[in-house]
Amino acid sequence: MENKKNILQDSFGRQHTYLRISLTELCNLRCTYCMPAEGIQLSPRSHIMSYDEVFEIAKTFVDHGVTKIRLTGGEPLVRRDADVILKKLATLPVELSITSNAVIIDRFIDVLKECNVRSINVSLDSLDAVKFKEITRRNDFEKVYKNIMLLINEGFNVKLNAVLINGFNDNEIIDFIEFTKELPISVRFIEFMPFDGNQWDKAKMVSYAQVMEYVNSNYDVDKVIRMQDAPNDTSKNYKIEGYKGSFAIISSVTNPFCDSCNRIRLTANGRLKNCLFSSSESDLLTPLREGKSIETIIQKAVQAKLKVRGGMDTMEKLEQPDLHGKNRSMIAIGG
Ligand code: GTP
Ligand code: 5AD
Ligand code: SF4
Repeated sequence: MENKKNILQDSFGRQHTYLRISLTELCNLRCTYCMPAEGIQLSPRSHIMSYDEVFEIAKTFVDHGVTKIRLTGGEPLVRRDADVILKKLATLPVELSITSNAVIIDRFIDVLKECNVRSINVSLDSLDAVKFKEITRRNDFEKVYKNIMLLINEGFNVKLNAVLINGFNDNEIIDFIEFTKELPISVRFIEFMPFDGNQWDKAKMVSYAQVMEYVNSNYDVDKVIRMQDAPNDTSKNYKIEGYKGSFAIISSVTNPFCDSCNRIRLTANGRLKNCLFSSSESDLLTPLREGKSIETIIQKAVQAKLKVRGGMDTMEKLEQPDLHGKNRSMIAIGG
C-alpha cells in the first residue's frame, strides 16, 4: 500500500505542501521579461484542464498533504470560469491564494472574499505609468494602481511583486520602499530569472546585494530591520522602522532557497513540474482523462526533483541558454 503522505516527499526529504496551479496561458498584459514579443505557441483548448479536472487533480494533492494552493497564469482571472474554479477549490481544506496583475481584480472582490482568499500577490514593476506601459506593453497603470488600493481597503493581505531590471526600474527601489511607509503591504524585489524567450542577460539582473546597497545608502543602518521570514518563504524580508509595510528580496539567481522548497507546479495543460526551472514535465491530464490513477506519476515526478533549480545549480549553468531555454516561457509556468 502506498503511504499517503510520502508521495510528496522528494529524495532530499523536502515535503511538498504547496501547489501552484496555472489556470491559463493567456494574459491581458505582455510583460517583456515574462513572454516573448511574438507570443508563445498556445496549447490547443482541448488540452487545457477543465474546472472539474483542476479540482480533481488539486484534490489528489490535498489528499496527500498539500495545504496551500496558489492560482497563477498567465493571468488567472482572464479565464472565463475563474470564479467557478475558485469556489470549487475553496471547498478543499487549504489556504487558497492568487497571483494576479490586478487589471480586472475589482470584478472578483466578492468571490475572493467568499472563497476566503486572504493573501493576494500583485505584479507591479513600476510606479510610473509610462514605464509601466513600456514593460507591460499595455496602458493599464491607472486600473492596476486603483485596484491595489481597493484590495488594501478591502482588507486583503497584499504583496507587490516587482521584477527589477538594471537601468529600467532599479532607480525606483527607494520609491517602492517609501510606498510601504503608509501602506501595510510587502513589496518584493525579484531578481530577473532566465526562461525561454525572455532575453535574459545576467547584466540586466539587479541582485539582492545591489538592492541592499541602495537601501543602505538611503536609510540609517539601525532603521533597516531584518524580519523573521516565514517557513518556506521565497523572500528575505525587511522593514524600515516605523513604516506600516515591509519589503523583501526574492533572490532565486544569486541566493537560491531550494533547500526549503515545498513547491510543486501544475501547468494549465495538466503537466506537473517538480521545479520552476525543471525542463522535464509529467503529464497528469491524459491519464486522468483515461480514468487512470495519477498518484504513481506524481510520486515519480517528486522523486526525480533535483536539489537546486532543476539542476542549474551554479550561475554558469543558469546562464546557458541551452539549459534555461529548454524550460517553458514564464507565461506558461505561472511563476
Ligand atoms: P507566497 O506564496 O506569498 O510566498 O508567494 P510566492 O513568492 O511564492 O509567489 P508569487 O507568485 O508571488 O511569486 C513571486 C516570485 O517568486 C516570482 O518571480 C516567482 O517566480 C518566484 N517564485 C515563486 N515560487 C518559486 C519557487 O518555487 N522557486 C523559485 N526559484 N522562485 C519562485
Ligand atoms: N523573473 C522573475 N520573476 C518573474 N515573473 C515573471 N517572469 C519573471 C522572471 N523572468 C514574476 C511576475 C509575477 C510572478 C508570478 O512571477 O512578476 O509576479
Ligand atoms: Fe524549488 Fe526549484 Fe524554486 Fe529551487 S528553483 S525553490 S527547487 S522550485
